[in-house]
Amino acid sequence: MTYIGIDLGTSSIKAALVDDGQRVLATATRELAVSRPSPLWSEQDPADWIGATLEVLRSLKTASPEAFRRCAGIGLSGQMHGAVLLDESDEPLRPCMLWNDGRAAAECAEIEASEPDSRAIAGNIAMPGLTAPKLLWVRKYEPDIFRRTRKVLLPKAYLRLVLTGEAIEEMSDASGTLWLDTGGRDWSDRMLAATGLDRSQMPALVEGSQPAGRLRPDLARELGFDTPPLFAGGAGDNAAGAIGLGAVAPGSCFLSLGTSGVLWRTTAGFEPRADSAVHAFCHALPGRWHQMSVHLSAAASLSWWASVSGQSETTLLGELGTASERPSPVLFTPYLSGERTPHNDPHLRGAFTGLGHEADRKAMTQAVLEGVAFAFRDGKEALESGASPIGEAMAIGGGARSDAWLSIMADVLDLPLRRYRQSETGAAFGAARLARLAVTGESPEATCKPPSGEANIFTPHPARAAAYTERHVLWRRAAEVSRALR
Ligand code: XUL
Repeated sequence: MTYIGIDLGTSSIKAALVDDGQRVLATATRELAVSRPSPLWSEQDPADWIGATLEVLRSLKTASPEAFRRCAGIGLSGQMHGAVLLDESDEPLRPCMLWNDGRAAAECAEIEASEPDSRAIAGNIAMPGLTAPKLLWVRKYEPDIFRRTRKVLLPKAYLRLVLTGEAIEEMSDASGTLWLDTGGRDWSDRMLAATGLDRSQMPALVEGSQPAGRLRPDLARELGFDTPPLFAGGAGDNAAGAIGLGAVAPGSCFLSLGTSGVLWRTTAGFEPRADSAVHAFCHALPGRWHQMSVHLSAAASLSWWASVSGQSETTLLGELGTASERPSPVLFTPYLSGERTPHNDPHLRGAFTGLGHEADRKAMTQAVLEGVAFAFRDGKEALESGASPIGEAMAIGGGARSDAWLSIMADVLDLPLRRYRQSETGAAFGAARLARLAVTGESPEATCKPPSGEANIFTPHPARAAAYTERHVLWRRAAEVSRALR
C-alpha cells in the first residue's frame, strides 16, 4: 500500500507519495498566488486550490504510476484559519480570507466582550488572523453574504468537500477557528453564538488520524486509483509538520520557517497561555495538545525583500554566503502583516533602521534573516515564560533550506537546531503518515518516529550568541519604532 499527503500551503500546494516503508517516492509542487486587494487584506480563490491539487496528483501519477495506483489513503494538511463561506449548493460565496488577513481587529474585541470566557474556552486571544473574527467582519460589511452562509470551512476542509463530498474537519485545524472548546475537543456553542453562528454551519469533527471520507468514485477513476483512497482527518500545517517530524511526545519542539514562522511545543494537556499571545491548540492525535508562537512574516519577509530588491531569493542568499561573524549593522523588523506573538497587533509595520552609505544589499539581506530570528526570540521568550525552557528544536519549512539562516536562528535563539533531509516536504509527509494511521489503525508512536535520515545540526556559537543577545535589546527598540508607525 502507499499513501499520499497533500499540503495546501499559502505559496504552494505540495504533495508527497509515500510507500509502506515510509520512503518518499515522489513529490510535486504547484505555486499559488495571494491577492491583497486592500491594505491588511489577504485572500485566495478556493478554485485555485482545486486545480492545483489535481495537477499535483497527476504529477505524482506520472512520476510513480504503479505506486500511485495502489494508494490506500490520502491525508490533508492545510494553511490554518482561512474562512471559506459556502452557500446552500456548497459554492464559495467570496474569496477565502487567509490566516494573515488583518482586517478584523475591531471584531476581535467585540467577540471577547460578548463572550467573556472566550480565552478560557478557546485557549487563545481573539486575533484577526483566526476564523471567527472574519465572520463577524463579513456579518458587518457583507451582510448579504453572511445571510447566505450555510457552511464555514477551513481551506483543507473545503478541499476535502470537493474531493470526497463530505464536510469534515479535525481538531488541530478546528482549534484555530476560535469556535472550538479546545480542552473539550468539540465545537463551543457559546463561541459560535458570539459570532452569530451555530453548529449546523460547522463541519463534523474527527481526530487527525481518524477516517474522514473517501475519494469520490468518479475522481478516483479519472485519476487512476485502483480503489478510491480513504481520507484521514489530517492536520493544520503546523500539526502536520509535527507529525512528519515525530514531534508527538510532550516537550518535543520544532521551528517552522515557512511563509509564516512557528515555534512549536507538544504538550500532554490543554495548557492555554493566551495572555502572552501564544496559541494553545489540539494536536492532530487524540489526547494531545500543543502550544506555539506564530510570526506572520518569516520566509514571507525574504520573498518580500526579493521582490523589492529585484533579485531572486537564491541570489540574495548566495550573496550572503555562510553566516557572518557579526550582526548586520542594519536592523529589520519583519512586521509586514503585523504580528501575532507576542504583540497581537495587525497594524504593526516593518522597518529597516541603521542604514548608512555603506549599507549594501548583503547587509540588508542579513538584517532580514536576523529580524525574523529576533521575532522568533520574542516568541521563544513568550513560550518559556513561566514554563520550562526549550532545550533544542528541529527545523522545517522552505527557509530552513538555508544554512546561513539556520545558523543565525541557532545563534539568535541560543538553541541547537536539527534539520533532517526530508524537512522540506514535512507537512505533506506528516499528512501521509496520518493517512496511514487512518487506514491501518497502527499506534501513532510506531508511525510517527523522528526522521531517520541524515541531519544537519546547527549549534549556537557562544560569541555570536552573546553579540545577538545585545543586538536583540536594540532591535526591541526598533520594534518600538515599528509600533509608533502603526
Ligand atoms: C498558524 C498560522 C500559520 C498558517 C500558515 O497559526 O497562522 O502558520 O497555518 O499556513
